[in-house]
Amino acid sequence: MPSPEVKNRIDELTDRLNRLNYLYYQESTSEVSDYEFDQMLKELESLEKEHPELKREDSPTQRVGGTITKTFNTVYHKYPMLSLGNTYSKEELSDFDQRVAKGLGSNDYEYFCELKFDGVAISLLYEDGILKQAVTRGDGEKGDDVTNNVKTIRSIPLKIAAKDYPPVFEVRGEVFMPKKVFEELNKSRAEAGEALLANPRNTTSGTLKMQDSSVVASRNLDCFLYSLLGENLEPKTHSDAIQLLEKLQFNVSQTYRKCKDIEEVFEYISEWDQKRHVLPVETDGVVLKVNNSDQQKELGFTAKSPRWAIAYKYKAEGAVTLLNGITYQVGRTGAITPVAELQPVLLAGTTVKRASLHNANEIERLDVRIGDYVAVEKGGEIIPKITGVILEKRADTKKLKYIDRCPECGTELERKEGEAVHYCPNFTGCPPQVRGRIEHFISRNAMDISNLGPNTIRGLYSKGLIKNIGDLYSLTFEDLNELKFEETDPVTGDTKVRSIKEKTARNIVDALEKSKSIPFDNVLFGLSIRYVGKTVAEKLVAHFKTIEQLQNASFDEIISVHEIGDRIAESVVNYFKDPENIQIVKKLKDAGLNFEVNSEDATEQNDTLAGKSFVISGVFETIDREDLKKLIKSLGGKVSSSVSGNTDFLVAGENMGPAKREKAEKNGVTILSEKEFNELINRK
Ligand code: IVH
Repeated sequence: MPSPEVKNRIDELTDRLNRLNYLYYQESTSEVSDYEFDQMLKELESLEKEHPELKREDSPTQRVGGTITKTFNTVYHKYPMLSLGNTYSKEELSDFDQRVAKGLGSNDYEYFCELKFDGVAISLLYEDGILKQAVTRGDGEKGDDVTNNVKTIRSIPLKIAAKDYPPVFEVRGEVFMPKKVFEELNKSRAEAGEALLANPRNTTSGTLKMQDSSVVASRNLDCFLYSLLGENLEPKTHSDAIQLLEKLQFNVSQTYRKCKDIEEVFEYISEWDQKRHVLPVETDGVVLKVNNSDQQKELGFTAKSPRWAIAYKYKAEGAVTLLNGITYQVGRTGAITPVAELQPVLLAGTTVKRASLHNANEIERLDVRIGDYVAVEKGGEIIPKITGVILEKRADTKKLKYIDRCPECGTELERKEGEAVHYCPNFTGCPPQVRGRIEHFISRNAMDISNLGPNTIRGLYSKGLIKNIGDLYSLTFEDLNELKFEETDPVTGDTKVRSIKEKTARNIVDALEKSKSIPFDNVLFGLSIRYVGKTVAEKLVAHFKTIEQLQNASFDEIISVHEIGDRIAESVVNYFKDPENIQIVKKLKDAGLNFEVNSEDATEQNDTLAGKSFVISGVFETIDREDLKKLIKSLGGKVSSSVSGNTDFLVAGENMGPAKREKAEKNGVTILSEKEFNELINRK
């Protein structure tokens, strides 16, 4: 029976952390340091673990995720989630206004204008002030229950903090990935050699349907709320409802405005046409709603949408042009990106010749075919995109068949289940992959050899002087000086002969020499192991310390590192399975590159269990298995899955299998109880 103090402490921490969370994410203020916040969260987590029955439904520990949803249940909406009629023309907006005026007879009315957020619609159900359910729009009638994932969105209250609120109500709004977060995510994907995500909206949609809510939590989604629904609600106008949402501490975008007539609506529209681009979320228009709820009822609905609201959509700058062909680019990790080759067309002040088609799914979705006229748009993103096919202009075109072999080396392409991107698996023999990896290796965040540009790399590669990164350090001044090679202009396709001048040759050799002191995490990042971006490289290096440790680590050992998942572990293991990679690493090591953390860093690490090999088995009372593994590793120990002659200790929890014990005894392995293990690490 927990003492009342425990319950009080859990309540106190829950309320305090929820309040701090609100202040931080919505008011941009903070009353405590990040460290204090984390300490309180940790304390709450451990109290909840000890007393799960006292964990509250609005516990902030849910924000960090950790639940797995295998299938999302279908839930019927109590109130259907309708769509909005939309228009791109001011005339049609005036027509809408006339219809409203006619529908309401001689009564006066006003509008409430909001921006149209381009995210994923969500409906949140609150009962007794607690967030009970979050459901996607789905087909409008029924959607998916994504409650656990939505609970990770920090600006969505898990419990209403205000005193008065309707006993049961629904709030609707738009979940989105802030533009900055999206850019960061794509930046780290580019670093890890992964294919880029198309846009924040699709990424939000995909994220909400992820099985692991801790991954969702790491994606930093946000949400703007814009409508309140329920029986016998107090507010009689939409503006009052918005005010109530604000009072209940929902995140309402401060971009709305009450407009007394359609002229004021037009002003709002033109004012936000440019200003909207500085918002954290992409917006594609304005939603105007008749403000008064009784008048809304009077106007009613058509089959699909309300007669009291309409969306005005801003025109994206677009053009129509001919699709001449599709080329396929091969990235350094073998990821294939289809590129639309367009009849050059003027768009927003620049001539556009190419547009990304992202992947095979996108081509399938658009059903775009060579010889089609396509609509090209320049939205928020820099690279223009194809938004559709002008079917009326379609001649006798054939459905496009995605390539099944690498356009560069002819190897059969692979596509992992559930992934949109095709890959060329010929890691070591496909020229753009090899060249791409060399370019990556010398880049600023890796070995930082700025004198060696991509063109020189191409030249050295075409001359056979380098076949992979392992060959770089064998280059001599004599190899480079006066070396002539052909260079092709990527835009015009013209070729010219270039030669390396004496000074450049000298600089390259010096820069190569200097790069030998670059730290191990940069070197590891430079190897272009798929999914190993800079941050992952840092984590692996901090844990494994030397290339040998990493090279010999099993899949299980790699995933036991904090924040390293299956995909990365599999990729690392595969990398070291390839003898050519082992050869490259050896060559680089012989050349004198750093393949271990330098000794200054190493002494800061705790090495209580250094060199000791552990096997853990059974269930533990004070720590779970994964955390125990991590603890052993953080103290310098090694964890293996089976007992062998090399095992030093077997940590035995409850229900340990007899076979393990027998094997341990046979091998002279010391068997430690949980208590003995704790003593061992505290004693030292
Ligand atoms: S009100 C019955 N307000 O647009 C009208 N919707 O086409 C309910 N949307 O599914 C919607 N911003 O996902 C409303 N300020 C806003 C909006 C908005 C974006 C989306 C929403 C809805 C779609 C309707």
